[in-house]
Amino acid sequence: MEIEDREPAKIASLRRQLLAWYARNRRDLPWRRSADPYAIWVSEIMLQQTRVAVVVERYKAFMARFPTLLSLALAPEQEVLALWSGLGYYRRARMLHKAAQYVAGHHQGNLPVSSGELRLLPGIGAYTAAAIASIAHGERVAVVDGNVERVLCRLEGWEAGSRKGGGAALRRKIDDLAAQLLDPAQPGDFNQAVMELGATLCLPRNPQCLVCPLVSHCETQGEHKTPSRPPMLSREVAHALSVRMGQNPENGPGQSGREVLLEQRAAALTVMPGLWELPTLLDPAVPEQELRMTVRHAIMQVNYYVRIRTVFEDDIDAMTVPGGERRWIPLGEAAGMALTGLARKVLTRAHLLAAASRDDDVL
Ligand code: ADE
Repeated sequence: MEIEDREPAKIASLRRQLLAWYARNRRDLPWRRSADPYAIWVSEIMLQQTRVAVVVERYKAFMARFPTLLSLALAPEQEVLALWSGLGYYRRARMLHKAAQYVAGHHQGNLPVSSGELRLLPGIGAYTAAAIASIAHGERVAVVDGNVERVLCRLEGWEAGSRKGGGAALRRKIDDLAAQLLDPAQPGDFNQAVMELGATLCLPRNPQCLVCPLVSHCETQGEHKTPSRPPMLSREVAHALSVRMGQNPENGPGQSGREVLLEQRAAALTVMPGLWELPTLLDPAVPEQELRMTVRHAIMQVNYYVRIRTVFEDDIDAMTVPGGERRWIPLGEAAGMALTGLARKVLTRAHLLAAASRDDDVL
């Protein structure tokens, strides 16, 4: 079925059914209780590439510390990164912070209202601009993210485009369809309803068609054909875990009196600039008897198989890759720092940080 074939009455019924389903089934998420464009902006940036379940707690902590755009703009980057910890893709946090500073400096701290003007800001793309403008201001602009793409492709019986080119024409058709289906009376709710349907029922695998409000409008009614995913790559690395009794009596006795060695590597030497990580061992082949733990850590398309070895303070320089700024950090302070996800995971597993609930794999 081509887009042109959709009759106005069918579009009206699709909108009605979807919005009624959304009203009954929408998840009670913290950012849905706010109409503040800044709050919506933060949530939309966090939700890119990160699951809702992970975002909820991080969002609450972030908004408690930075309740307004101005408070975010005035914060040091290290603090912003520390509050982003666990969400990954730290570039998003840096861009959000920079854009907040830009808005504070050029727009008196007020985000522009229209999606067209929002798009002109550094770090705000078509998706984010449409989400903020439709949800906060009711602008009639359709949001298209991965979930929406899947829902619309299935509705029309379209195969997903291949990653390598050939996707532009499909993407245009999807954008046209999204604009045509958008309910002009409730654009924010409609956009969120399509995303919600994609996130909860119209799943990539095992879509729940039996309970889908749009099943009668759907050409596919099941999984659609998608390009095969590129295989995950594997890398092996090893890091040093070095802990010593603190030199500063003010840190107090016990756990908080101990210090861990962390380093911040130059941007050219790390994929995580600005974040604190464990020093890298020169020799990734850690002998069995020296192995403290093995951790699998996924970053984008790469599975890192990480060996962690305890290293004495005196051996650190001889055994690790030089090139970073190193500091002995009291354990009581480490949790609040901008750690890499891997460093946080290792310190937590070693019972050196307050346990965080994370679904990572220790091998
Ligand atoms: N995914 C990203 N943003 C969303 C939103 N506002 N509602 C539902 N799912 C989303």
